[in-house]
Formats: sequence, structure tokens, C-alpha cells
Amino acid sequence: MASSSPKTVTLEQFKEHTQRKNLYVLLSGKVYDVSKFIDEHPGGDEVLLAQAGQDATDSFEDVGHSDEAREFLPDFYVGDIDEAAVGVLKKEVKAAAQSLQTAIDPGSNFTFLIPVALLGAYFAWRYYSASA
Ligand code: HEM
Repeated sequence: MASSSPKTVTLEQFKEHTQRKNLYVLLSGKVYDVSKFIDEHPGGDEVLLAQAGQDATDSFEDVGHSDEAREFLPDFYVGDIDEAAVGVLKKEVKAAAQSLQTAIDPGSNFTFLIPVALLGAYFAWRYYSASA
């Protein structure tokens, strides 16, 4: 294990490694070079490429990777991600989640119309019952 002063990977460097032959994966603040592993990954190459340039921690944990899978990690370890990059990457995930939320739930923007519609219905009812 490379325990003494690990190398810091800047956001720029991390974002430069998003190709199959040049691919970094970020897990729990640590950067791994999976270029040599991508063809052997039992989960396939697509899932790894889809995580390029992002924090893959949640996806990695959601799969429930085995201890054997985790034992591969030290071999691919490059260094720790720059502290500043963590904030930027988190913001990117948040922004993506928010735009997804708006895309799947556009109706929520119109909920303010419900009381207006009820009021309109009440006045319409008053109007019709008064003129009857
Ligand atoms: C360096 C990082 C990674 C390593 C070393 C790795 C290793 C492995 C290994 C050894 C397996 C076989 C099952 C197991 O032992 O758990 C596996 C399965 C899998 N991995 Fe990864 N993996 C990595 C990253 C990722 C990432 C970022 C994703 C993103 C979603 C992912 C998705 C999957 C999926 C979907 C499977 C298949 C699970 C199944 O069919 O049961 N892996 N991985």
C-alpha cells in the first residue's frame, strides 16, 4: 500500500481521463485508473464509462461489490482527489438530479393553480345558484 503522502489528482486531471484507454474512476475520494481493467470488469465496460468524470461511489456501493472486487482497488489506485474537486463534483450531481426532477415532474410547477381553480368553481357555483 502506498501509504506515505498520496498523490493529489486535480479536477482537471480527473476530467482528462474519461476515455476507455484512459479512464479514471472516483470512489470515496480516491482515484483509480481502470483502463487496464475495463475489459475484464464483470459488470461490463459501459457502466464504468458511464461513471467517467463523476463520483462513482454511490453506484459502486449500490451494486454491492464483493470483498474480492474491493481487493482489486489498491492495484488501480492513482491518488486522492483534490478537496476542491469534491465540492464541484457534488454540485454537478445535485444540478443533474434537479434537472431530472423537473423533467419527470413538470406538474408540480402548476400546483399553485389548485386553490385558484377552487375559488373560481365556488364563484361559478354562487353565480349559477343566484340566477336560478
Ligand atoms: C475500480 C472499480 C471497480 C472494480 C474493481 C469492480 C469490480 C467488480 C467485480 C470483481 C465484479 C464481480 C462481482 C463482485 O465481485 O462484486 C463487479 C461486478 C459489477 N460491477 Fe464493478 N467494479 C468496479 C466499479 C464499478 C462501477 C463504478 C460500477 C458502476 C455501476 C460497477 C458496476 C458493476 C456491476 C453492475 C456489476 C455486475 C453485478 C452482477 O451482475 O451481479 N462496477 N465489479
